[in-house]
Amino acid sequence: MPRPLRVAIVGAGPAGIYAADALLKSEAAAEPGVSIDLFERMPAPFGLIRYGVAPDHPRIKGIVKALHQVLDKPQVRLFGNIDYGTDIHLDDLRAFYDAVVFSTGAMADRELRIPGVELDGSYGAADFASWYDGHPDVPRTWPLEAEKVAVLGVGNVALDIARILAKTADELLPTEIPANVYDGLKVNKAVEIHVFGRRGPAQAKFSPMELRELDHSPNIEVIVNPEDIDYDDGSIAERRKNKQTDMVAKTLENWAIRDIGDRPHKLFLHFFESPVEILGEDGQVVGLRTERTELDGTGNVTGTGRTTDWDVQSVYRAVGYLSDELPKLPWDTATGTVPDEGGRVIEETGEHMASTYCTGWIRRGPVGLIGHTKGDANETVANLLDDFANGRLLTPDSPETDAVVSFLEGKGLTYTTWEGWYALDAAEQALGEPQGRERVKIVEREDMLRASGAIK
Ligand SMILES: Cc1cc2nc3c(=O)[nH]c(=O)nc-3n(C[C@H](O)[C@H](O)[C@H](O)COP(=O)(O)OP(=O)(O)OC[C@H]3O[C@@H](n4cnc5c(N)ncnc54)[C@H](O)[C@@H]3O)c2cc1C
Ligand SMILES: NC(=O)c1ccc[n+]([C@@H]2O[C@H](COP(=O)([O-])OP(=O)(O)OC[C@H]3O[C@@H](n4cnc5c(N)ncnc54)[C@H](OP(=O)(O)O)[C@@H]3O)[C@@H](O)[C@H]2O)c1
Repeated sequence: MPRPLRVAIVGAGPAGIYAADALLKSEAAAEPGVSIDLFERMPAPFGLIRYGVAPDHPRIKGIVKALHQVLDKPQVRLFGNIDYGTDIHLDDLRAFYDAVVFSTGAMADRELRIPGVELDGSYGAADFASWYDGHPDVPRTWPLEAEKVAVLGVGNVALDIARILAKTADELLPTEIPANVYDGLKVNKAVEIHVFGRRGPAQAKFSPMELRELDHSPNIEVIVNPEDIDYDDGSIAERRKNKQTDMVAKTLENWAIRDIGDRPHKLFLHFFESPVEILGEDGQVVGLRTERTELDGTGNVTGTGRTTDWDVQSVYRAVGYLSDELPKLPWDTATGTVPDEGGRVIEETGEHMASTYCTGWIRRGPVGLIGHTKGDANETVANLLDDFANGRLLTPDSPETDAVVSFLEGKGLTYTTWEGWYALDAAEQALGEPQGRERVKIVEREDMLRASGAIK
């Protein structure tokens, strides 16, 4: 009997799990069969679903349930707490698998090159999201002394950051936030949050529903300046073409003309203000300087030279995420992605790097919702299977399923498994139960490993 097709997937976020799903649903799954191992650097799977999605977004649960069903399949194994590049390398994977799919996503903040970015009080959104989502590798405390805060960027991450800063800790208590995050938010002094877009309402990257959600909190007064509502031909064309853009613009227009209420935390959405400098004194943020911009007819903007200094004591940069470069793989520094054609990794020579594939944010950059990674994974897997069917995959030396286990154990590595996730999941739910909460996240890596049964 021919042996199953052995595939390693590096990164157990949505893209990697959807890639496993596509393999399981393929013809190859029936004959000769597929056998998939997911390698994940965190002790728990799910990537940004666990360490990016805001805690007050429980809608995601349906997606997690579907991803669970993939990992429940006997052909799939999880090796958590295993870092590609440190614990396991490309040559190792080549020895055990017919093909390797990289789906390592993005976890860091894209750089914003303006003076003052290094000051105390200037923070990356990814770091803050990692903190409130209980990522083990960031500090346990977060300085929340600022009463007035700026958030740069008008995408959905900026909305998450602004909303978490503007809500009260008690509003967030029913969610899965860890105890240290609740304690930190309890002393959050922010009462005024200013979100800045460098272009106009028709260029905001908000999703309509996420935007409207800002207004649902009894503690948040959303304020839009009527002078910031402006469109040029490019904006009008975009509104006609894109229903979501139109819905966002309409919501902003409605907010601009309504009376300002008295909810205690004011959240200002500013447009046509491009950040030029974070102002500091004694190494600490004391303000933000923006330059007024105006539309140029195409939906882009030019600077007017008129600047405003905003009195804020901290600045959060939500101008996009960035992926980590992967050892031994080609890299496009301009986009921060692995170069590919249809998910096949492409070397500098223009050749396909044999048996090597990529999918998700590491492939297309840090844009798009969880669901979007599914189509991406389907395309990558279709090309992998085409290479398999046409005999283009490299042959591994040790394709037996226990060879990799011996390798990891031989190196003395501590790894978590899918069964371990069930144990961690149960432990987090048990932590939440006495407080009537669905779960409370476990933060420390060692505690996660212990709850997963990976260490005693
Ligand atoms: C702050 C934030 C909030 C979001 N909220 C939503 C939302 O509410 N709804 C929505 O639909 N979308 C949301 N998104 C978008 C969504 O998170 C992404 O579309 C999706 O997570 C991308 O999937 P991915 O698998 O490519 O990457 P990731 O989710 O980043 O998964 C990559 C995985 O690879 C692992 N990894 C990385 N490097 C290595 C390595 N060297 N070795 C082993 N493993 C590695 C990581 O630990 C991670 O588990 C949000 C994004 C952000 C940034
Ligand atoms: N709840 C959800 O569904 C949810 C939550 C979070 C994230 N996500 C998704 O995750 C993806 C990433 O989100 P994101 O918010 O990180 O990225 P994004 O949607 O690309 O938004 C980035 C924002 O930063 C601005 N920006 C970039 N460079 C700038 C600069 N130098 N100066 C000023 N502003 C700058 C951009 O403005 P310009 O347009 O002018 O460049 C844009 O407004 C998106 O697809 C998003 O929808 C979804």
